[in-house]
This record gives sequence, C-alpha cells and structure tokens, in this order.
Amino acid sequence: MHHSHPTMSEEERHQTPSPAVSPWMEELQLPEVLMSDTVRSLHATIEQDWDFLRRSACQTAAGRALWSHVVHDPVAAVLAGESYLRSLFEKMKQDKLNNAPEVSGVILAVRTLWFDSRLEAAINSFGDRAAQVVLLGAGMDARAYRLSCLKESIVFEVDFPELLQVKASLLKELTSSSNDHQIALIAKSLIRVAADIREGDWIEKLQRCGYVPERNTVWVLEGILYYLPHLHAMQVLEAIAANCTSTRSVLLADFMNKSSISLSNSNFHFYSDWPDRLLPTLGYCHVKLSQIGDPDAHFGLLHDPQNLFNKLRNLPRSIEIHPEDGTPCRRLYLVEASYCQQQDDQ
Ligand SMILES: C[S@@+](CC[C@H](N)C(=O)[O-])C[C@H]1O[C@@H](n2cnc3c(N)ncnc32)[C@H](O)[C@@H]1O
Repeated sequence: MHHSHPTMSEEERHQTPSPAVSPWMEELQLPEVLMSDTVRSLHATIEQDWDFLRRSACQTAAGRALWSHVVHDPVAAVLAGESYLRSLFEKMKQDKLNNAPEVSGVILAVRTLWFDSRLEAAINSFGDRAAQVVLLGAGMDARAYRLSCLKESIVFEVDFPELLQVKASLLKELTSSSNDHQIALIAKSLIRVAADIREGDWIEKLQRCGYVPERNTVWVLEGILYYLPHLHAMQVLEAIAANCTSTRSVLLADFMNKSSISLSNSNFHFYSDWPDRLLPTLGYCHVKLSQIGDPDAHFGLLHDPQNLFNKLRNLPRSIEIHPEDGTPCRRLYLVEASYCQQQDDQ
C-alpha cells in the first residue's frame, strides 16, 4: 500500500506548535464531495434513520474535522456530514467570540491525540509491529487510513452493520469522486466486523473475521464504554481480558465518572470513578490513568489555567463538587492498561 498522506509521528506532533483555534474560523469550508448526491443521500439516511448511538459517530468525526490544525484526518469531514460540521462550527465560533477558556471540541481533539499517541507507543512496545488493533465501537474512526504506525497491523473495526456499510459507501464515494482527496489504506489490512457488543457473541464474530487471540493486540475503546449499560460494559472488559491470556495486550479506553453521566438529558450509562481500581479486579495491570490537561493529554491545547479541565485535574479525584463554584466534577479519564500474564509480567 502506498501512502498518499504524510502522517505525523508523535514526535512531530509535539514539535509542531498548534494554535488553539484554527485560522479559518471565520468561514466553514466544506469539501466538495459533501455536496454530491450520493454523499447527501447517505447523510440523509443517517439523520433520518439512525438512533443517537450510531449518530454519535458523526459527532466525533466532526470534532476531528474541525480540529484539523492538530488532528490529521483527511476523511473526517465526509464521514461527519454537513449538519454535524455546521453545528459544531457554530459552537466553536461562539466560544471564540466569547473568549471561552475552552473551545468546543477540544476534548475530542485531545482524546483523539491521546489515543493516537498511546496506540503508537503500544505497537512500538511489542517490538514486532505486526499487531492486531481492534477498534470497538469504531464509528467513523479513520485510523486505518491515517496512522503510519499501523502499516504492518491488521485493523478490525467493530460496530453496527448499517454504520459500517454507510461508512464504506462514504469512503468509496470519496475515493472515486475527487482528485484532491486521494485516500489510501495505510494499515496492512482493514476488516469490518458487524456486531452488537452488548451481545455475547461479538468475540466469536471477531474471530470468524480473522482475529487471533494469540497475537499481540491493542484494544481501542474510544467513546464507547459509557454508551453501554453497566452490565454490558463490564462484560466487554471481561471478554477482552479473557482473550488476552497468552499475548501481550494493551487496552486503551476512556471512562466517564459518575458526575459525567448524571446530567439530566444524558444518554450515558456506564461510569467508573476509579477505573484504575476496577481494571485490576478484572485481571488488567500496569494501569495508567490520565485526565484531560495532564502532561500526556495536553498537546498544547489547554493553556488557560481557568479552563474546566485544568481546574478539575488539580482537585483530588475524590471530590465530587467543585468547592469554588458548586458544580459537579465531571471527569473523563483516559486509561491505558495491559493484561497481566501471571508469571512473565509481574
Ligand atoms: C461516540 S461514537 C465513537 C466512535 C469512535 N470510536 C470515535 O471515537 O470516533 C460511539 C460508537 O459506538 C458504536 N456503538 C455503540 N453501541 C454499540 C454496540 N452495542 N455495539 C457496537 N457498536 C456500538 C456506535 O455505533 C458509534 O459508532
């Protein structure tokens, strides 16, 4: 596979000073392919037929598209669709006008960059780069098309069948319709696995599609656990642990704390205030927890000491209500863990 896009290594990203807000904020520039009939009709289907679970995939893609000055994702805009791009763009513009200490979408940008950097580090740590990477609730994730660290890896994207189909059609349209949006797969291979991870058979489906438990694997659970009911989230974490007994495996996941899911109109279910205590009970070890704004989850985007994330991470995690303003401490934890191989690893 040749690479049509240069992808930034973690080192390069750290060297590139990034403005907090993209220079083109005055006007939203949409790629031409978004206006094509096929793409319009695919996005109309998303808006009319999909529930919030599936549609959330477009929201995160919009975040990556509009933070393109820090996240290199050449297909995010097409996968997100016009209405998600417009609505996030308007929010970002308002934040900018109001001099908000944090601009909408920054949390998605930081989260994506954190997962990118930890994924690259995990693959490098295996020595042998021919790893498996399983994206659970892959949504409109385009890592297989944008990360050079995946060039020897097999990527599995697990999500609902209709989402994977529409995603494939959007990418096909993008490749066939435009000259300036050359996209090429960077990963060694990409396998889409249609499955509902609330059901017990998703690991079997993954195996039928070629996943081999004996191979080094990185499990990427980005923006997915808190959409699941508690029981199902726990079963997913247990199923991953049960499949990692004879390999080197790394789990990358973000967790919301209880205050984050307790918003009145929240669609979120699973939470953990202490994922660093929970995961060891399931067999994981070397658990490292970061919060948005920590040195490894900063990426030059969170300078204002008054921004929400900096205020939160400077408080002990046991505090649930902010002592200064009485607001609930809504936290997002970025967590990396590996599976304990009883004798070798400890
Ligand atoms: C917020 S999106 C995150 C997508 C992607 N990981 C990212 O960070 O851009 C959540 C994704 O999880 C998928 N999802 C939610 N519940 C699922 C389930 N039970 N089985 C499979 N996929 C699920 C949704 O379809 C959606 O694509």
